[in-house]
Amino acid sequence: MQKLIPVVVIKELKDTKIILSALQKEGIYCAEITFRTACAEEAIKLAVQEFPDMEIGAGTVIGGEQCERALNAGAKFIVSPGLSGDVALICKQNNVPYYPGCVTPTEIMRALSLGITTVKFFPANVYGGLKAMKALAAPFPQIKFIPTGGVNRENLDEFLSWDKIAAVGGSFFVEEAMQKWAK
Ligand code: 3PG
Repeated sequence: MQKLIPVVVIKELKDTKIILSALQKEGIYCAEITFRTACAEEAIKLAVQEFPDMEIGAGTVIGGEQCERALNAGAKFIVSPGLSGDVALICKQNNVPYYPGCVTPTEIMRALSLGITTVKFFPANVYGGLKAMKALAAPFPQIKFIPTGGVNRENLDEFLSWDKIAAVGGSFFVEEAMQKWAK
């Protein structure tokens, strides 16, 4: 899995190539395309076809039906803001990694019971950031985290320097790449 996961919101299909090209120019070969816009599914399809060297996943997947659509579109990993049992089951059946949002011991225990050991920690800035994740790592040493929400250039390295961080997610990767490369 890639260490940097840009959270991508595609408002219009034509933006897909512009955004993903900018990310590649930044050296980032991963994108979590979020199911927050009407064209998300089409954008994933397009991204998978046009950017075969990138790891394209689907984000903000909150139910089974969306998950099926994301997988049919070619998503290689699935991210949710919280934990959905339906999504977990579909991902398991399709052998696709699922990163559910988990910020409490109970949520992490649920993830473990579903065979999931890497969770999104969201919104990381609100739920206590690195300090909270370190506290959770004591009873759950097998868990790895993907902090997302409030990650920025200033705090990125601090997250990345802890070995329990599987990856770091955020929209700021997209903002930076677009500012630099899409003018
Ligand atoms: C997400 O859905 O993961 C968040 O919107 C990303 O949060 P950020 O915009 O603070 O990076």
